[in-house]
Amino acid sequence: MEKGPDWGLDYDESLPTDDWQFQRFWPDRSVNMDENTARCQSCHSSQSGSGFLFTANRVPRFDGTPVE
Ligand code: HEC
Repeated sequence: MEKGPDWGLDYDESLPTDDWQFQRFWPDRSVNMDENTARCQSCHSSQSGSGFLFTANRVPRFDGTPVE
């Protein structure tokens, strides 16, 4: 997920994303064209009350140390 100014305008206005866009990538960073990103949007919409994120409460506590 990545967010930018007015990026939500690419989506149907009946399904707002709070300017997030969704994409799935392969490990070589190419886009996985087999993914239906409506799936991402659908599930993450359930978290619209916390910025569409499931872990919004944990983000401020992350100190930058990679998880092993
Ligand atoms: C069936 C529900 C579901 C679908 C579909 C789904 N996600 Fe998630 N996503 C979750 C859950 C639950 C978490 C939190 C996982 C955790 O606790 O570590 C999460 C976490 C994330 C996060 C980390 C930020 C956050 O919300 O906590 C990103 C980024 C993300 N998902 C992107 C995507 C993308 C992109 C897609 C589609 C390719 C997608 N998700 C599809 C349920 C879903």
